[in-house]
Amino acid sequence: MKKPRARNLLSAFCLLASLFTIACVNSDIIGIIGEEVMLPCPCDSKMDPDQLYLYWQIHETVVDTFIKGNTSRSHQNIAYHNRTRLFVRENKTCSLLLSQLSVKDENRYECHYGRQEMHMLRVDVSLLVAANYTSPVLQAPGEQTRGRYTCTATGGFPAATIHWLLDNQSTPWNPETPQIVLNESTGRYSVTSTLAANISQYSTLTCIVENKRLQVNLSQALNSHSTQDTPQNHTVIPVAHTSLLLRYYLTVLLLVWSVLA
Ligand SMILES: *[C@@H]1O[C@H](CO)[C@@H](O)[C@H](O)[C@H]1NC(C)=O
Ligand SMILES: *[C@@H]1O[C@H](CO)[C@@H](O)[C@H](O)[C@H]1NC(C)=O
Ligand SMILES: *[C@@H]1O[C@H](CO)[C@@H](O)[C@H](O)[C@H]1NC(C)=O
Ligand SMILES: *[C@@H]1O[C@H](CO)[C@@H](O)[C@H](O)[C@H]1NC(C)=O
Repeated sequence: MKKPRARNLLSAFCLLASLFTIACVNSDIIGIIGEEVMLPCPCDSKMDPDQLYLYWQIHETVVDTFIKGNTSRSHQNIAYHNRTRLFVRENKTCSLLLSQLSVKDENRYECHYGRQEMHMLRVDVSLLVAANYTSPVLQAPGEQTRGRYTCTATGGFPAATIHWLLDNQSTPWNPETPQIVLNESTGRYSVTSTLAANISQYSTLTCIVENKRLQVNLSQALNSHSTQDTPQNHTVIPVAHTSLLLRYYLTVLLLVWSVLA
C-alpha cells in the first residue's frame, strides 16, 4: 500500500514542476537484459527537427544528442556507442531506443529538449532492468521424505524471493537464509533456498520463485507419493489390459465356435 502512495506524491510534484520548466514522467520503465527498450520523451509534435536541440544524458554523461537536424555522436559516452537510436524525423518524438541492455544501464535518464539552448524542457525517465529466472529446480533429500530440500533458480535479475508451500499452505518449517550469488560477468543472480522438512507421503511440496520487479512467479512441485505410486500404476495397467485382451479372445473364440457349429 505504501508504494502507490509514494508514487502519487511524486506525480503531484512533477505536475507542479511542469508549470515552470520541468516536465516529468514518473513511471518507471522496465527493460529486459539483452533486449531493447524505448525511453519515452514526447516532445512537441509541431517542432521542426531542424530547429531542435535534444540531449539525452545521465548527469554529465552524454547518452545521445540531436542538434538542429542532425544526430551528433561526437560527445557520446563510449558505453552507449552503437546502442542508441532517435526517431526525431520519423516519429516527431524525442524518445530514445536503447538496445543490448545490461544491469549497468539501470539509471535515471534526462531528456532535455527545446528550440533554444537557453529554454530547454526536461523529462526524466527511470530505467529499471530485469531478467527472468530459469524454471526452478527442486531437489529432494534422496530417497527419504525427511531432510533438506533445495530450490534453485538462475539467470534472473533482480534477486528473487523463494517461497515454500506444503499442500498449497504455508509450511510449518522456516527455510534457511537463502544463498544469493551474483554472476559478475552477466550481472545476473542465482538464488537457492533450503528447507529442512519432514513431508508425509501424500503431501505436495512446492517452491515459488518470485521476481517482484517483473511480477512473475515460477513454481516447481514435488509429489513424494507419485514416485511410490508409479510402480503400482505399472502393475495395474497391464492387468486391466490383459483382462480386456482375454475377454476379446474369448468373444472371438465364441464367435468362431458358433459359426463352425
Ligand atoms: C560500433 O559499430 C562499428 C561498426 O559496426 C564498429 O566498428 C565499432 O567497433 C562499434 N563500437 C562499439 C563501441 O561497439
Ligand atoms: C513511429 O510511428 C509509427 C506510426 O505511428 C509506429 O508504428 C512506430 O512504432 C513508431 N516507431 C517508434 C520507434 O516510435
Ligand atoms: C516425520 O513425520 C512422521 C509423520 O508425519 C512422524 O511419524 C515422524 O516421527 C517424523 N519424523 C521426525 C524426525 O520428525
Ligand atoms: C507470487 O507468489 C507470492 C507468494 O505466494 C505471492 O505473494 C504473489 O502475490 C505472487 N505474485 C504473482 C504475480 O502471482
